Amino acid sequence: MKVVVVNHPLVTHKLTVLRDKQTNSQIFRHLVEELVTLLAYEATRDVKIQEVSIQTPVTQTKGAMLATPRPVVVPILRAGLGMLEGMMRVIPSADVGFLGMVRDEKTLQASTYANRLPDDLTKRQCYVLDPMLATGGTLIAAINYLIERGAESVTAICLLSAPEGAKAVEEAFKDSKTPIAIVTGAMDEKLNEHGYIVPGLGDAGDRLYGVV
Ligand code: URA
Repeated sequence: MKVVVVNHPLVTHKLTVLRDKQTNSQIFRHLVEELVTLLAYEATRDVKIQEVSIQTPVTQTKGAMLATPRPVVVPILRAGLGMLEGMMRVIPSADVGFLGMVRDEKTLQASTYANRLPDDLTKRQCYVLDPMLATGGTLIAAINYLIERGAESVTAICLLSAPEGAKAVEEAFKDSKTPIAIVTGAMDEKLNEHGYIVPGLGDAGDRLYGVV
């Protein structure tokens, strides 16, 4: 499994503002969108393209465009929704599928409560949007779900990750034939006893949409 920590001053700057508890939801949402576009650039490095012939105003030439079938972007509800707009700005012709996953705050186990995805993901490169890779439970469940439906590869885009979560995902898919990658803005220090990333940014869903 490939883990890419995107090391870029703009990513660090935006993440620092996100982490600050004084940052309000409006600015937080805006920054998440901007950050995702930066992470998406790295995450889509291996997106499939196919050769095409085009006519420029000057001559006939060959180029390349996104291959079909198009990639599938899969935000994990609820917090992943805040990343969708930024991702679609980079790859607007992708299909979008939704996966609703919730983690039990006591057991930290993830379960699926909703899904809206094609049944057949054969030949589809999937990009999972999940802002916080904490224990890894949600992401492992989501990746398994996509692999079962035949996904060709799965790349998770996470704003922040904990080493415990990255290790858990790595362990879960060490024998998988499906290429798995994690692209993240930072690898934080650890998880605390409540399963929160430290230093982290708190509850990403609450920071994006308010406490419900
Ligand atoms: N989910 C969050 O929103 N924040 C964390 O720190 C961990 C999981």
